[in-house]
Amino acid sequence: MISMIVAMDKKRGIGKNNGLLAHIKPDLEYFKRVTEGHTIIMGYNTYLSLPIRPLPNRKNIVITRKDIKIDGTIILHSIDDTLKWIEKSNEKEIFICGGGKIYQQFMPYADKLYITHIFHSFDADKFFPPIPDQWKIVSINGERENIEHEFPHIFAIYQRK
Ligand SMILES: NC(=O)c1ccc[n+]([C@@H]2O[C@H](COP(=O)([O-])OP(=O)(O)OC[C@H]3O[C@@H](n4cnc5c(N)ncnc54)[C@H](OP(=O)(O)O)[C@@H]3O)[C@@H](O)[C@H]2O)c1
Repeated sequence: MISMIVAMDKKRGIGKNNGLLAHIKPDLEYFKRVTEGHTIIMGYNTYLSLPIRPLPNRKNIVITRKDIKIDGTIILHSIDDTLKWIEKSNEKEIFICGGGKIYQQFMPYADKLYITHIFHSFDADKFFPPIPDQWKIVSINGERENIEHEFPHIFAIYQRK
């Protein structure tokens, strides 16, 4: 199963200047909780934006057209190669974790979306693609610390209808 995990603002903004829009600790903890022990797949820009790389306790896959090697990561060169890798791996759930270009290209192949909705508008330069009509929210979670946060947010899960 292919899942995508993202935090987006009211305008689907996800990043600016190759960084996050805000460091929302409960969301970063949520990301860690959901993805640890799994394979995470990201574009090269997102990889460069990570404070610690590769991210520990996860198999890191980086998609780039560059002919490079990065210690502790698997490099793949196209969406097709990545889909083949996923199929071969037989993993129960893998996580696409950005950025904008990668989310857009994997949207047709995703089975599940973990979306943190941040109820704020930032000045973003990278966006999550529009969520097509065939998706519906199947769960919403948020504790007091999320709702009363400086940047209020909730954790939604979407599946195809
Ligand atoms: N809010 C969130 O949850 C979240 C999550 C992740 C990232 N972000 C943000 O998103 C931003 C980065 O997103 P982005 O769109 O700039 O970059 P990105 O999607 O992370 O990476 C783009 C790069 O991936 C490679 N790539 C993309 N499509 C490819 C393909 N079909 N075949 C081979 N390589 C391909 C290319 O690398 P090469 O140029 O090396 O070939 C391309 O330049 C940052 O601001 C980051 O903080 C936010």
